[in-house]
Amino acid sequence: MARHEDLPIPIYSSLQPVYGDKSPLEEAQLRFENLKSKFIQSFGHPPEVYARSPGRVNLIGEHIDYEGYSVLPMAIRQDIIVAIRKNDQNLLRITNVSEKYIICTYPADPNQDIDLKNHIWGHYFICGYKGFYEYAKSKGLDVGVPVGLDVIVDGTVPTGSGLSSSAAFVCSATIAIMAALNLNFPKKEIAQLTCECERHIGTQSGGMDQAISVMAQSGFAELIDFNPIRATDVQLPAGGSFVIAHSLAESKKAVTAATNYNNRVVECRLAAIVLVIKLGMRPQEAISKVKTLSDVEGLCVSFAKNHGSSDPVLAVKELLNEEPYTVEDVEKITEENLQSMFANSPSSLDVLKASRHYKLFQRASHVYSEAKRVHAFKDTVSSKLSEEDMLKKLGDLMNESHHSCSVLYECSCPELEELVKICRNNGALGARLTGAGWGGCAVALVKDSSVPQFILDLKDQFYQSRIEKGVISKFDLGLYIFASKPSNGAAIFKF
Ligand code: GLA
Repeated sequence: MARHEDLPIPIYSSLQPVYGDKSPLEEAQLRFENLKSKFIQSFGHPPEVYARSPGRVNLIGEHIDYEGYSVLPMAIRQDIIVAIRKNDQNLLRITNVSEKYIICTYPADPNQDIDLKNHIWGHYFICGYKGFYEYAKSKGLDVGVPVGLDVIVDGTVPTGSGLSSSAAFVCSATIAIMAALNLNFPKKEIAQLTCECERHIGTQSGGMDQAISVMAQSGFAELIDFNPIRATDVQLPAGGSFVIAHSLAESKKAVTAATNYNNRVVECRLAAIVLVIKLGMRPQEAISKVKTLSDVEGLCVSFAKNHGSSDPVLAVKELLNEEPYTVEDVEKITEENLQSMFANSPSSLDVLKASRHYKLFQRASHVYSEAKRVHAFKDTVSSKLSEEDMLKKLGDLMNESHHSCSVLYECSCPELEELVKICRNNGALGARLTGAGWGGCAVALVKDSSVPQFILDLKDQFYQSRIEKGVISKFDLGLYIFASKPSNGAAIFKF
């Protein structure tokens, strides 16, 4: 049987296979009707085709995908739908059902530059547009001259929440563009290409968000491996639910990239290079060959074995300094100037401009230990432990992951710390930040039977004061805290 990542995006003529029945189906029907009537109102004709792609919550494996390690996310039901039709105006006209979003118009030119200094929401569509044409070119596909497109977007994934609204948008946009041209490809190729698409926005993200959005299966979390991309269904234990709660601090991944996200990518690369030099590789060779910490794991494990362990963290402890490295410290080891090492990557040069020191020991310790926790989580789920013991062990792994993100990777924030603590004080078996961090959501593992009370307790202890201060409205609480079951991946609809 073909693995599901080898199959193309499913095409449906009804909503039911994706949205199920009862109220989720009714809600979806309303959204699609609304999209269609707004489309006719804006462009004078109905859309030809629709694509949807979901947000995700990462259960474990944070900030390790770009280092080549497997992660374990699941899709959530919140998604982004793109309604699309070709036009003969040579323009990309992008609107949103919500009036909060301005109408964006771009030329139908896949070679256009994205104005990164001016972050507007329509740029994410252009990421998909550029990425699709680059992909077609790399495959030698004849897709004709670039066409103009009319587009309306409807999203329910909260933005800045660490639930991958950006990947859901880039994936649904790219798939909609393909569908408008009557094209479809294996999901693993679309996962890879959408990951590359999103880098046009200036974040050096790994491929987790796009991979899960494209490849998710209802009822399963997925173990996502990279190089090559692969998804393995993971059946989560009965009796436990994942509750997602927003810290209400917005996580602006693209805007803060130079000091946060991309900074960590650069630190990991430097950690890998310094480690491998300490392990005996010549600096020049290290710089040209080593990209990620997974590239040097084998050497770290051999080093650890000579010291009676199999844990690569031992090499980190022995070979890297706990004190942050200055630029001069690193350059003494690499024998090359950092600017020239990263000369080909403008977003890394922005990191160098913004940073004075690099915490190589801490970042590498996080990555190697977090990579192990992902496999421990997967093994626990498929073990013969009793439900009680299994949930407890999964919760412990989530707590350890949070501690590592918070202390070693420093991607938490005061609001997330408060929220995670409140989750644990109110019976969560484990709780951690999810996604890039620096704001956004926490995910908590809670016994099914305790979920309603847990949500009420969080409302009292975390959200009530914020409702009183006017940060959110009590009527919107359901947008900020909800339990989620693993949902479907991307789909195309042609009615
Ligand atoms: C963002 C990125 C992902 C991943 C996470 C952190 O969501 O897009 O690729 O790196 O952060 O785990």
